[in-house]
Parts: sequence; structure tokens; C-alpha cells
Amino acid sequence: MADQVGPRHIPTAGAGPLVDLHDLAIEAERRLDPDHWDFFAGGAGDERTLRANEAAFDGYRILPRVLRGGGARDLRTGLLGDELALPVLVAPTAFHRLAHPDGEVACARAVAAAGTVMVVSMAATTSIEAVAAATDEDGRRARLWFQLYPQPDLGFTESVVRRAEAAGCRALVVSVDSPVFGWRWRDLRNGFLDLPPGLCCENMRDPATGRVRDIVMDARLDWHRIDWLRGITRLPVVLKGILHPADARLAVEHGADAVLVSNHGGRQLDGAPASIDALPAVVDAVRGRIPVLLDGGVRRGTDVLTALALGAAAVGVGRPVVWGLATRGETGVRQVLEWLRADLDRAMTLTGAVRPADLTPDLVRPGPPR
Ligand code: FNR
Repeated sequence: MADQVGPRHIPTAGAGPLVDLHDLAIEAERRLDPDHWDFFAGGAGDERTLRANEAAFDGYRILPRVLRGGGARDLRTGLLGDELALPVLVAPTAFHRLAHPDGEVACARAVAAAGTVMVVSMAATTSIEAVAAATDEDGRRARLWFQLYPQPDLGFTESVVRRAEAAGCRALVVSVDSPVFGWRWRDLRNGFLDLPPGLCCENMRDPATGRVRDIVMDARLDWHRIDWLRGITRLPVVLKGILHPADARLAVEHGADAVLVSNHGGRQLDGAPASIDALPAVVDAVRGRIPVLLDGGVRRGTDVLTALALGAAAVGVGRPVVWGLATRGETGVRQVLEWLRADLDRAMTLTGAVRPADLTPDLVRPGPPR
């Protein structure tokens, strides 16, 4: 009977029910301080890449198979030694407490309930220890990965890695697309350059002084630093922000455990390709040696399906999680993950697929010219 049930709604006062991630974005904009909305929603430059991330999914069509009689779907996905209930994880996004007072803790609870992974940002407004301690109503904890911007101060970088390890994080996600911050004109126009009083990047607290350091983007970052990281930790290392197939090959050579095809949600290099358009060449270059992940513009089950058919092992979602938080805290994030799960389940059924592994490249075709 579950197949007969439509999306469960978040009721709103006055307006109609929210039924998808686009509705949720509209509701989040209504609720958030305009400067904070711009921080979360915006991208770099003219926001070409930001727009392209979602629009590019329109460049693909899904060619379904019929009469396969597969029955109940099984969305479980193995990744870096973990089993996820669905091939969707929460991408690292900064400043959750700007969206909701419960911030990252609410997000972790929702992720625990959904049975997937939360990548905790180095720029989280809650310490990694507090996020790790969060449990959902059934006492479950979220599986956490930790996102790292390697700092020029290696001693401090190592101390952050040790905190992530001690908190039980199961992978390090190293953002390699940020040798400088992208210029985000909305924030510059709004003068939104810092967190309001009372909030800070708790993972940047210096163990020696107790003071919170600024995150430094390091233009000198190179493959040696990745080798160094591999040498100081046994955690799997995921390189986030790979777009060029040559870098994907180098990632394999330098012992990365996975690559994440991403343009940082259009917030770094404006003009970079949409993630889904960059994916096939990276998948080709990696040749199955390590998992390839993707984030950017994933808003529907059909987007997840397209990415998996083109070779992604799983996808990340960034902004929708923030919209869920801004709208209803933990319940909102749970709804985001449930909508994506149910929508993927339905899209797979309509395509004749039972498991993520059934999503093969023959099921995706180029769409109309853009
Ligand atoms: C991000 N992203 C990001 N990435 C990262 O490695 N560290 C970070 O702290 C942040 N912070 C952050 C804040 C906000 C507000 C956004 C929107 C994004 C990028 C994020 O991990 C991911 O790559 C994109 O958000 C994916 O695109 P969508 O799902 O937002 O379209």
C-alpha cells in the first residue's frame, strides 16, 4: 500500500502544503533573514555555474525498462565500508545555526533517522563533539564524515583531524576546490562578511589558546598535502571538488579513497561546468578503482537516478538540507531526506530498477539541446 501514498506534506499556516524541495526553498526564503538567505542561496560571480547545476539535469532523459517485475526496491548502498539506507548523503554546509537554533545537531538527528551520512563542515557552528553526541528519538547516532580545509598550520590541521577521529567520524572529506574563497557578490553587497555575535566556527577553536581561528584558504595546497594527510590518518580520504579527469586520475594515484565531483554548489569558480556534466569524464578516468560521488543541483529522485546511472555511487545535497532546517529544524531535514528517498524509489520503479546497481548508463540519454 505504501506505493499508493503520495509525498507526505509539511503543513504550512495559510499557504498550501509544501510538497517538494522547490516549495521548501520558497518557504525558507520567507522565513530567513534576507542576508542569510542570500548567503545560503547564492553563488560566485554571475551565478552561471549555480544555475547550471540544476538546469543541466534537463539535458538528460531517462529511458525506462518495462515488465521487469522487480518488486520492492532496495536502496541500500555500500560506501567506504558503511551501509547507507539510500544513496544520498548530506553535503557539508557552513553555519547551520544561522538557519535554525538547533543547527548541526538537528541535522545530525535527522540523518541518524534516515540512516545516511552527514558530512560535517569545518565551518560548522557546533563542535564536532556535540554533533557526534546527537541522537534521534530512537537513540540512534548519525554516521559522520568530517570536511576539512587543510590549514597552512599543519599542527593545527592535525589537531582538527584528531578531533574528528576521536568524535567517531568515519571519513575525511578534503575540499580541494577552495585555494581562495569565490567572490560572492550577494554577500559583498549585503555586507555579510561574518557570523553574528554568539555564533562561531567551533571546529576552528585552537586547543592551545581556546580562541577560534579564522579558516584560511591556502593557495599553496598541492598533492604533497594530500600525501601528508594520508600519512597522518587511517580514515578514508575523499577529495571534494574534482572536475577535471586528469585530477581524478591523480586522486587515484595519490591514494584517495573516493572523489566527489563538485563545483561547491557554484560558490567557487563561476563558469565551471555543472556537476552532472563533469561526471562522465571523471567516471571514465577513475575506471571503477574508487567510488565517484557527486553534488550540485540534486533536487529530485530523477536527478539522483541520472547521476547513479552515469556512474556516481551516491550523491550529496547541500541547500535543500538548509531549507529543511530553516523551515522546521530536524523535522524539516527529515522531510528532505524522506522526499528524496520516496522520489528516488518511485523513479527507480518507473525505470524498472530494484537496486542502485541496476542503474546503468544505457538508461540515460541526452535530452533536448539546451
Ligand atoms: C556549501 N558548501 C561547502 N562545501 C564545503 O566543502 N565546506 C563548506 O563549509 C561548505 N559550505 C557551504 C555552505 C553553503 C550555504 C552552501 C550552499 C554550500 C558546498 C556544498 O558542500 C555542496 O558542494 C553544494 O552545496 C552542493 O550543491 P547544492 O546541493 O547546494 O546544489
